[in-house]
Amino acid sequence: MNYLAVLISGSGTNLQAIIDAIESGRLPDTQISVVVSNRKAAYGLERARRHGIPTIYHPFLPYRKAGRTREEYDTDLAEMLSDYPIDLVVLAGWMHIFTMEFLRHYCRILNIHPALPGAFPGMHAIEEAYEAYQRGEISETGVMIHWAPDEAVDAGPVAACERVPIYPDDTLESLEERIHAVEHDLYVRTIAEVLGVPLKPETEQS
Ligand code: GRF
Repeated sequence: MNYLAVLISGSGTNLQAIIDAIESGRLPDTQISVVVSNRKAAYGLERARRHGIPTIYHPFLPYRKAGRTREEYDTDLAEMLSDYPIDLVVLAGWMHIFTMEFLRHYCRILNIHPALPGAFPGMHAIEEAYEAYQRGEISETGVMIHWAPDEAVDAGPVAACERVPIYPDDTLESLEERIHAVEHDLYVRTIAEVLGVPLKPETEQS
């Protein structure tokens, strides 16, 4: 069995795609041992609970208020996670930049970013790509899944990427929808590849 920790801060649609792939048997020999959120209202926490997955809520605000550092926050999170079996840490909309205090505990951390490698790092990648397209600067965008070996933001060795076209009649919403659909499929396929488990057809149960 391969065990994942999935870290989220928001809606958790990528988390849901991974849960669905596991439950449908598409992603065999894989379990999510824990879901972590740094935001209490993250809907992804509710998704995890509904599927009986243990959750951890670990906010940074109390650390900041107490004058404690990101390193201390990261050390405590690593300590909490040590209670769970974890082969791969999957960042899925996780809005916190890890320091080496966390990164040194886990050598296999994947992150997903809704842009092609090197393009539009940060929180507004889809909007920025949409606006760059309107200015005639780009003709396509994409999705990247990369390893997180250090403290860089939305950068690191690329594990997978896929191009996503932008069409003249796209709205920001239609582009977002197309990108998220690619993310959900690409994350599941990449996790399978990294874990070395064969993806099964969706209808086939394990
Ligand atoms: C995704 O677009 C991901 O690429 C980015 O944050 C978003 C998370 O979406 N890092 P969700 O919470 O999985 O719905």
